[in-house]
Amino acid sequence: MNRIEGRVKVTGLATYAAEYPVENVTYAFPVQSQIAKGRVRHVDAQAALAMPGVLTVLSGEDPPPLASGAGELALFQSREVAYRGQIVAAVVADTYENARAAAAVVRVDYDPDDHDVSLRADHPGLYKPDHVNPAYPTDTEKGDIEAGLARAAAVVDVTYETPVLHNNPMEPHAALASWDDEGRLLVYDTAQGTTLSRNTLAKVFGLPKERVRVVSRHVGGGFGSKGTTRPQAVLAAMAARAVGRPVKLVLTRQQMYDVTGYRTPTIQRLRIGADAEGRLTALEHVAYEQTSTLEEFAEQTATPTRIMYAAPALRTAHRLVRLDVATPSWMRAPGECPGMYALESALDELAYALGMDPVELRIVNEPETEPDRGLPFSSRNLVGCLREGAHRFGWEQRDPAPGVRREGEWLIGTGVAASTYPARRSPSKARAVVQDDGDVLVQVAAADIGTGARTALTRIAAEALGLAPERVHVELGDSDLPEAPVAGGSMGTASWGSAVVRACEELKSDGREGTADTTEEVQGDAAFSRHAFGAQFAEVRVSSVTGEVRVSRLLGVFAAGRIVDAKLARSQFIGGMTMGMGMGLMEETLTDEEFGGFLRRDLAQYHVPACADVLDVEAVWLDERDSELNPMASKGIGEIGIVGTAAAIGNAVYHATGHRVRELPITPGKIL
Ligand code: MOS
Repeated sequence: MNRIEGRVKVTGLATYAAEYPVENVTYAFPVQSQIAKGRVRHVDAQAALAMPGVLTVLSGEDPPPLASGAGELALFQSREVAYRGQIVAAVVADTYENARAAAAVVRVDYDPDDHDVSLRADHPGLYKPDHVNPAYPTDTEKGDIEAGLARAAAVVDVTYETPVLHNNPMEPHAALASWDDEGRLLVYDTAQGTTLSRNTLAKVFGLPKERVRVVSRHVGGGFGSKGTTRPQAVLAAMAARAVGRPVKLVLTRQQMYDVTGYRTPTIQRLRIGADAEGRLTALEHVAYEQTSTLEEFAEQTATPTRIMYAAPALRTAHRLVRLDVATPSWMRAPGECPGMYALESALDELAYALGMDPVELRIVNEPETEPDRGLPFSSRNLVGCLREGAHRFGWEQRDPAPGVRREGEWLIGTGVAASTYPARRSPSKARAVVQDDGDVLVQVAAADIGTGARTALTRIAAEALGLAPERVHVELGDSDLPEAPVAGGSMGTASWGSAVVRACEELKSDGREGTADTTEEVQGDAAFSRHAFGAQFAEVRVSSVTGEVRVSRLLGVFAAGRIVDAKLARSQFIGGMTMGMGMGLMEETLTDEEFGGFLRRDLAQYHVPACADVLDVEAVWLDERDSELNPMASKGIGEIGIVGTAAAIGNAVYHATGHRVRELPITPGKIL
């Protein structure tokens, strides 16, 4: 299907959070900490208050009360500074320009302390968190790693590093907040889930949920950065209460780098052993990551290693250190993406150490059941993806020798990596009701963050009802609609769709209306290991003169259950793969060791692939029937596309040049 909202989007008629016309609106602009650690001694707002149009200055001098006093959202509740860029004050004025100009003259005095913003694998502050996100065990261990390595025919012991990465959705984080006469809060927010955002704001402001409404009808990308409520929503609401007028707050791109989350940097050590046939004898994956002093965020980096390959000895572990940095957060395939980068790169090294084809190496280590918990897979078609991809990509003609194919200055190589992502569901509610004209209105507080959720749900409802899609109208993006989980974890369609199907089934038997709550249904999902799988193939051309890497071909083959809509799915897959190309070759936020915070804070310095970088990206999928999943028989498709892409590209760079880069991104300086 074409996207239902495609026309309003491209004609500029789609209304985003900051664009709702509101009378009497005012504007807030944040003031950010200039130090990475210490205390705010004093905020002098005098000069700012004398500026034109300024209504108030909020800060810790006279903190507006909040019900919850800790964490990233507890604005102005403490004088402690946890990271450079943290919001320490805000100006509210009659125009955006006046607020911004006045914010520049708010004077903040600090008592600075020494800061530490550097992740190291030997950091004395490393500790073992109780669990990793969302609720996985921190460590797993079975068998004897050392014995497995000792009897291996080939061993790799390698450390891979990934940098801080930022999500950079096109639509900046924004909020437009107002309070009505009865003390009810309405926030137009950039949110991947209005139910969660409403619940969070209710908690922060100490309000019953019924007194908060969050609306996000269109969201210009999120990739996880809009999955949790961000400070702009709290600040807009706080400011609106202070001035008694609606407040609009749009973060600048630079501010987004500081306060909307980022992917933690990782240091990952892998020790892998295999016998002469390539069968793994030991597999160990240890990830070192950072969190902040405000909140614990423990990325589940090594968890994909628990389910990928059969090994008699398998150990995974995560260690975390609290640094004077902003709290990391979700970025497309948090955990799986950096974890599979390291695992799939290290496996490529093992294939070379064994003199074995990297596709075959993966196939001989295919497990019967999930290696971690021994559960049956609901379906698993990694081998099918590898074989289909090898066939389509022309893998059989590949000469494995590195650094020998050359066209003029260009060295040419190909690489492969596996991909995976969990196929989860969360409980959701939905309502379907027949309208006066006979069409059906479907309501669910889902979010369309550019994925095409509105369109996919229309199709799902139409199929369940036996109606043409034109006669189904899906309403989403509003917390007053039936409660639904976030557009995250690649489980939006599976979660909301399950509730929509059940509501439509009830409508069919009732004749007028159906409602659903899938809480009980979802509990049954734990009986299987549920994951999508894929295989990524890359061809690169590396300039021997400049070190420039061009990705001449990318092919992803996925097994992700039933594909609900081919056009939407292909867009998601190739979008993820393109983002993976950015991770492999370009994206990197540098941490400012001297002053804290980040050095690259806009799209001029943080490079993402542009159209000219994307030469030939194709995604295809296997016809996978999996009746254990949900009424649609679908798996998620939002995140698997990014998983494995960077490894496939890195492996291709090695094949092209004979030089192994173990630190992303693979920039020219690391190749020459
Ligand atoms: Mo996605 S990082 O699960 O929003």
